[in-house]
Amino acid sequence: MAERLIISEGGKEEKYALLYSQVAALTEDESDIIANMANIASMIHSTFGFWWTGFYRVKDKQLILGPFQGPLACSRIGFGKGVCGTAWKLKETVIVPDVDKFPGHIACSSASRSEIVVPVLDRTSQEVTAVLDIDSDSLDTFDQTDRLWLEKITRLI
Ligand code: SME
Repeated sequence: MAERLIISEGGKEEKYALLYSQVAALTEDESDIIANMANIASMIHSTFGFWWTGFYRVKDKQLILGPFQGPLACSRIGFGKGVCGTAWKLKETVIVPDVDKFPGHIACSSASRSEIVVPVLDRTSQEVTAVLDIDSDSLDTFDQTDRLWLEKITRLI
């Protein structure tokens, strides 16, 4: 069992390492943030087959839906609301192993079981400019490996 887990973790690491190099190449050649967010969401989503992968951008003191892959999602989220608004408020990645146990979770889809939200920080001001939100239809999908690599990826934006 432990051996199988290690093999599976190795697979995830390798996928993220490849994904990171692809995102680095992409963002080096393209400065438009929406184009980059759209391709990053697509690459993460197709690499791992998550339920929903996308960005919300900070605008008019709210999070407003940006480029994403997956089913229809809510358009606006307030500061401190849901998992996304909490990651914005804390300026920290939030991992939710079971969305039913997160008070205030905003259910855009009843199929979502676990979630990770990574804030995107402005390089100069260190203010949150967006969040990367990923939903899984399985419980307990995300761990510190996801956090590490997704934080690295969002720093390229
Ligand atoms: N579940 C999120 C809302 C966004 S959707 O999952 C795409 C939240 O609680 O903030």
